[in-house]
Amino acid sequence: MNSSNTRPKILVARRIFPEGIERLEAICDIDYVDQIEPLTKVELAQRLIGKDGALVTGSERIDADTIKDAKALKIISNIAVGFNNFDVEALNQRGIIGTNTPDVLTDTTADMGFALLMAISRRLSEAERWLRDGQWHHWEMGRMLGVDIHHSTLGIMGMGRIGQAIAKRGLAFGMNVIYYNRKPLSKDLEQACQATYVDKETLLKNADHVMLVMPYSADSHHFIGAKELAMMKSTATLVNIARGGIVDDNALVEALQRNQIFGAGLDVYEGEPKLHPGLLDLPNVVLAPHIGSATEKTRYSMMNLAIDNLLAGLAGQKPKTMINPEIWGK
Ligand code: DGY
Repeated sequence: MNSSNTRPKILVARRIFPEGIERLEAICDIDYVDQIEPLTKVELAQRLIGKDGALVTGSERIDADTIKDAKALKIISNIAVGFNNFDVEALNQRGIIGTNTPDVLTDTTADMGFALLMAISRRLSEAERWLRDGQWHHWEMGRMLGVDIHHSTLGIMGMGRIGQAIAKRGLAFGMNVIYYNRKPLSKDLEQACQATYVDKETLLKNADHVMLVMPYSADSHHFIGAKELAMMKSTATLVNIARGGIVDDNALVEALQRNQIFGAGLDVYEGEPKLHPGLLDLPNVVLAPHIGSATEKTRYSMMNLAIDNLLAGLAGQKPKTMINPEIWGK
């Protein structure tokens, strides 16, 4: 398995499903952080020392400091598709493989985007709170009026795998799909999604529903701020299933307080799990605790893909979903 023919030593940095530990135990010596709280940065760096590999989640920040003293490290496998928690350059400099879990969560996460879109458009959270509060006494013509989803314009920011899966859901609702991406899709993919490429401003001004699905990086930090929110229709919704930090939460709270847009559906937040306190008081926002990929089937698939990647890397084989394939063979 490794050069000295001993069992590889790995860190599992957060609690995973028991079946995952069983798979790993058959092959590796595990230092298991069997808890839901993430390690501190210092603890993480400490626990990586002497490890050949590590299984981490999107909450563990992996940078030059955390891997500095982990001289044996060959691979770090992320149980997440987003890998903004990895400093890829720092991994590359050390020749350490990084992997993520794309594809297996595409449809589940697209479903969540649509769930938030539907919930905010039809004011489901607000309506349920009102009902549970005992306020429903009569049918009323103007009660809880929402905005339509069907036959509206869906604007998708970030047209990777999940963006395309959302576009296809939009088509089933008779939506006109427009998108913005770093570069336009190939004609074939555009055709499959029946989506039209537009610039950012055109999307913001024309979409009835704006869905954020792009990766988070320095370039996409506060991609949606006060200026962008001001471009949106007052009847439009904004959904973020990508990453906190893509939206300037301060600006969003202010826009929602002024009813500058119809509402927002959020699964991710700046500085999560802490939330901007203003969000909690607003009726026109649906809030979820970063559960975009959280179905049993998908979370098992993510765990198993991350383990496949880790074991492949430890065995000197190319992992299926490397985030830095450019270092392979070097
Ligand atoms: C992902 O896979 O990137 C999800 O957001 C979980 O972190």
